[in-house]
Amino acid sequence: MDDVFVVSTVRTPVGKRNGYLREWMAADLVGSVIDEAVRRIDLDPSLVEDVINGTVYQIGEQGFDLGRMAPLMASKFPISVPGMSVNRQCGSSLSAIQIAHGMIASGNMEIIIATGCEMMSKYTLQSDLNGTLSSGDPMGTPFGESYTKKHGGTDQLLSAQMIADKWEITLEECWDFAIASHANAHQATIGGYFKNEILPTAGLDKEGNPIVRDTDETIRPNTSLETLKDLKVLPGTKWITAGISSTITDGASAVVLMSEKKMKELKLQPMARIVANAVIGSEPEIMLTGPIYVTPKVLKKAGLKINDIDLFEINEAFAPIPLAWAKDCDADMSKLNVNGGAMALGHPVGNSGARLAVTAINELQRRKARYALVSLCTGGGMAPATIFERT
Ligand SMILES: CC(C)(COP(=O)(O)OP(=O)(O)OC[C@H]1O[C@@H](n2cnc3c(N)ncnc32)[C@H](O)[C@@H]1OP(=O)(O)O)[C@@H](O)C(=O)NCCC(=O)NCCS
Repeated sequence: MDDVFVVSTVRTPVGKRNGYLREWMAADLVGSVIDEAVRRIDLDPSLVEDVINGTVYQIGEQGFDLGRMAPLMASKFPISVPGMSVNRQCGSSLSAIQIAHGMIASGNMEIIIATGCEMMSKYTLQSDLNGTLSSGDPMGTPFGESYTKKHGGTDQLLSAQMIADKWEITLEECWDFAIASHANAHQATIGGYFKNEILPTAGLDKEGNPIVRDTDETIRPNTSLETLKDLKVLPGTKWITAGISSTITDGASAVVLMSEKKMKELKLQPMARIVANAVIGSEPEIMLTGPIYVTPKVLKKAGLKINDIDLFEINEAFAPIPLAWAKDCDADMSKLNVNGGAMALGHPVGNSGARLAVTAINELQRRKARYALVSLCTGGGMAPATIFERT
């Protein structure tokens, strides 16, 4: 396998539900990040051999094939640049990076942009389950009788609670983790740590006036025990609240991957090398445990131990998920989501894999650290994981 390098990364700020990104069409937003990703390295867009996009709710403006629509709607890309769309639930755009890696490592392609996008202000959770057939009948759900007989129901809030119970994660630990997530994201924002990764992006303020933001809209720096204690418990759970959950949000990200040969030919500097990829399936009933099981697998592939990793980005779908992961994998908490996670920075589901990768790679650069491990739990019980090495 040939080495594959990341040579450009960029993301929009994350926008809150019905927040400043609310009017964007998904393909225009992905178009803006791929335009910027190639601009940053002065790459001729016609050299890009594919755009692989991860989006969960591939319907309406996010439907057809966002990977193809984005270069068609971007300002710099010729029609010769194709695109495709993948769905691995919340791991979709990390899987887009992994597929791009495979195509380049195998020598089939030399330059691919992996992207992620989800506009949850328009297409919120389960938006793909509620439509109608042309007959007018309900569209149906993929969870057929043979699934429910084998696995029962699935619900992410219940899963978060079950994981907390099984791994003996307390509500107090979750509160502390949520407070740290917002505090770290706020510190990263005011410290300018996200400056390199964020594309200042136009949008609308509450009144509908045009604005440009270069910071994430979702961070609540005043999050405290007092504010968290007052939030109402979510249905069916013992103590999961909005304050210890990721939020419904909008955003897009892009990662340019390249073969070593092409990178040298174009005289580009690498940001990171992909060391190893893995993906696993885990119990769909409790669906959010995947990062626990994929971590040993990806570490083994990389020939590394957990303590060799400098930074972990484990998606904060709900506070118990990274906490149970850290406990089970015996990971150093001081390396986990150091600039905040999805509780503070939102979780535009299809975008999150690429967003976490972009943040991890830029933080490796800022700290001059070596390895970052990125993983996300997903619906259906899965988890992709990728280890990046700063180069
Ligand atoms: C958890 C969830 C149901 C909450 O939805 P919601 O009730 O619409 O969420 P909101 O953001 O409006 O928050 C509810 C309240 O908590 C408050 N709140 C949330 N986080 C807070 C914080 N850190 N500090 C203080 N207050 C907070 C909000 O201000 C709001 O209060 P209000 O009703 O007085 O305005 C929703 O965010 C969700 O589904 N998250 C999980 C997403 C998911 O499952 N993704 C896939 C992962 S597998």
